[in-house]
Amino acid sequence: MMKIEWLEKNTAKGVSWILPVFQGEERLGEEGKKADAKLQGRLDTWLQQESCCNDKGDSFLLRSCQEDLPDILLLQFGKREKLNVQAVRFCLGQAVRALEKAKVSQSVVFLDELGLTLEESAYEAALGAILGGYRFDCYKSKKKEPVLQTLFLQTRHTVTPALEQALQNATVTAEAVLQARNWVNQPAAVMTPEKMAEEAQRLATLHGMDVDVWDAKRIKAAGMGALSAVAQGSDVPPRLIVMRYCGGVKGKPWDAAFVGKGITFDSGGISLKPGEGMQEMKDDMSGAAAVLAAMDAIAALKLPVNLLAVLPCTENMPSGKALKPGDIVTAMDGQTIEVINTDAEGRLILADAVAYARHEGAQRIIDVATLTGACMVALGRVRSGLLGNDSAWNDLIVAASERAGEKTWLMPHDEEYAELLKSDVADLKNTGGRYGGMITGGLFIGAFAKETPWAHLDIAGTATLLKTSGAWVKGGSGAGVLTLLEIAKGLV
Ligand code: BES
Ligand code: MN
Ligand code: ZN
Repeated sequence: MMKIEWLEKNTAKGVSWILPVFQGEERLGEEGKKADAKLQGRLDTWLQQESCCNDKGDSFLLRSCQEDLPDILLLQFGKREKLNVQAVRFCLGQAVRALEKAKVSQSVVFLDELGLTLEESAYEAALGAILGGYRFDCYKSKKKEPVLQTLFLQTRHTVTPALEQALQNATVTAEAVLQARNWVNQPAAVMTPEKMAEEAQRLATLHGMDVDVWDAKRIKAAGMGALSAVAQGSDVPPRLIVMRYCGGVKGKPWDAAFVGKGITFDSGGISLKPGEGMQEMKDDMSGAAAVLAAMDAIAALKLPVNLLAVLPCTENMPSGKALKPGDIVTAMDGQTIEVINTDAEGRLILADAVAYARHEGAQRIIDVATLTGACMVALGRVRSGLLGNDSAWNDLIVAASERAGEKTWLMPHDEEYAELLKSDVADLKNTGGRYGGMITGGLFIGAFAKETPWAHLDIAGTATLLKTSGAWVKGGSGAGVLTLLEIAKGLV
């Protein structure tokens, strides 16, 4: 992976410079001018004559063709007054791909002019660069060797311990997101429930977390009839992963429980999905991946909170042993569920997981899941859908997602929606019909949180992206990781 380091004031040789340009400004900023002095003003002259890289994130590489002069990447940051953390993250994501394409091996970005505090600039620049440079090519027989080796950060001020820390935090955080992306991008044949459990165990040993892995027998013995029912159709055995991180006051209850949907492949089960696009359902464990990666970052950053993570992991497959529409299953807390559609399996496994989090005394619960196509219909691939039963918990999550730069939208959940989940023969049924599908799907899960503050983040539309832009790269996105991390910070 590309290294990110501080560079002492006298810029090293062979390092290309990233210089910001701003919309509506014909001339270079302070840093640019200083750099340009060394180039005898050529850059400024050039800029006034040409119009290049007009859109935010666009860039243009000027080759100096002289050994003692650096190449310059002019990078458009948009309107100066609109500069914010998102813009910096976005532009650095764009920049690293441009540098890679131009086969630049070392580059330096000057942080003083980006309109943020230096700590913010360092954090966002590093985060954007690492996230934007991500590639998933482990199955390509001809791999492109990465060219860009080091991105240097430079400031005219002294590099304080707080600045060092900001860079360190960004690296840990970005690596967690890349980890989640890798898991999501792996095919279902590799990313089985057992593999997820191995990964959880590996990370737990690294950063001092407790992890418990339950097999099918133990899941059943604990009364998790809904998770067991989804798992029974598959030849691949299920796992329930329980992780515990105690960074806060010892003996205090869990500040929050993070629950993640871990369907390692969703064929729909007996209510089989159409063949077209089914390959995308390898990403149906994105919620579990986000929780796992966030727990890793939280433990690595040693945040002073007590967190429980519950990850129900299984395939959803059709077979002679599979769950059938019309079957009635009993969740861990005793509530009975009439299964109308076996493709609404996420809420079934999350019912047991949320009931378990409540049983463990979690003060608050959030579940993260690729739960409904309806969420994509409502919000597209831009925002994740949020739903919750407690306004203070909702507010904390919305604020966290904004800080994280992950867009979410709070949906309503009036009583009338819950009516749609009433069953003639059981306590609940697992679908509420086509309309309002994201809301009824979420509310179903909420029924197992009871009076515990609970929220649900539907990442169906954001877990996999169709195009690369800024820090986001096509494929598994790692959606949810940054929000969960900010939630943990918000709980402190
Ligand atoms: N994993 C899917 C949701 C999904 C669909 C995510 C498309 C990403 C893209 C989920 O298990 C599912 O199948 N949901 C059904 C629920 C319905 C049967 C009530 C859906 O949304 O169609
Ligand atoms: Mn499904
Ligand atoms: Zn699913």
